[in-house]
Amino acid sequence: MVLLRFGSNRAAKPRAARSIREATGSRAPAEVISPGAFSHESRVGLPRRGFPYTADVVSNLVFITGGSSGIGAAMARVVPYSDPRVINISRRELEGYDHYEADLADPAAWGGVADLFAREIEGFAGERVVFVHSAGTLQPIGFAGEVPTDAYVQQVLLDSASPQVLGDAFLRAARKTRAECHVVMITSGAAFTVFEGWSAYCAGKAAMDQWVRTTGAEQARRGGRCRLLAVAPGIVETPMQREIRAASSDELPSVEVFVDIHAKDQCRDPEEAAREIWSLLDRDLENGAVVDLYVPAD
Ligand SMILES: NC(=O)c1ccc[n+]([C@@H]2O[C@H](COP(=O)([O-])OP(=O)(O)OC[C@H]3O[C@@H](n4cnc5c(N)ncnc54)[C@H](OP(=O)(O)O)[C@@H]3O)[C@@H](O)[C@H]2O)c1
Repeated sequence: MVLLRFGSNRAAKPRAARSIREATGSRAPAEVISPGAFSHESRVGLPRRGFPYTADVVSNLVFITGGSSGIGAAMARVVPYSDPRVINISRRELEGYDHYEADLADPAAWGGVADLFAREIEGFAGERVVFVHSAGTLQPIGFAGEVPTDAYVQQVLLDSASPQVLGDAFLRAARKTRAECHVVMITSGAAFTVFEGWSAYCAGKAAMDQWVRTTGAEQARRGGRCRLLAVAPGIVETPMQREIRAASSDELPSVEVFVDIHAKDQCRDPEEAAREIWSLLDRDLENGAVVDLYVPAD
């Protein structure tokens, strides 16, 4: 685990929001139009022009799971590259950004995301493609054997399985472009610290880290055009942190640690964390590095 702290990048402007499900609902072949030619109209059922963006008009293609909230939304807002196209993959929209609606705790949705990667990446002739996997859940908070089974299964699917399956789909699609490709998994200190009440979460992040280490080594052996990174962002003030603080000490015995950090105003700002995460892509890190941005307060 590498510990790093450093500076910021400049922000990117969002595009008009639209649903990719809707946009791709048209069977019309993709055509090249200028980004400005696409408007809100496509979201409200007016005639579409086919799926509009192609490699010719976008130099940076960014997929973000969990882009609707917290760290994922902040990652979308502060993309440091020029002319980015950002696609949020989650159940809810992030206003102002492209949206592919998917419940990633449902394995039936994973194939659609794989198709999205394949469709968007094949022939992409821009500079860079990035896949940020930020979707994750702490629910159900509580001890294994005591929480509802269905919710536990959903958590295992989202936190443990979806990073690996979607990561594999991305790397497969990435073989169809010559652009540099990056996978950024948002991990957690829970990957290497025991937090009673978070068994599936801790196990999921540990699996994520080891998947990144292994696939990073594989990609290095293949020449390193695809780079992989797992980043633990520290304690960031998001809805997930609010869920933690709302837990009981019976469900989460260490809840007071998080309440205390918040009371001392030591949670990180999501956009500050996001800028640091983006800046890691410019670092000469080992392929498959697992980086922890957490810095304990004095
Ligand atoms: N906040 C922290 O202090 C902290 C620390 C370490 C690691 N992390 C990690 O950072 C990542 C983002 O967390 P956050 O703090 O930003 O939490 P958040 O604000 O609660 O955001 C969670 C995101 O995950 C998405 N998501 C949850 N369930 C989903 C599902 N079934 N299908 C698709 N998307 C789903 C949500 O989108 P929809 O609800 O729209 O589907 C949302 O965009 C997580 O992986 C978390 O483990 C956070």
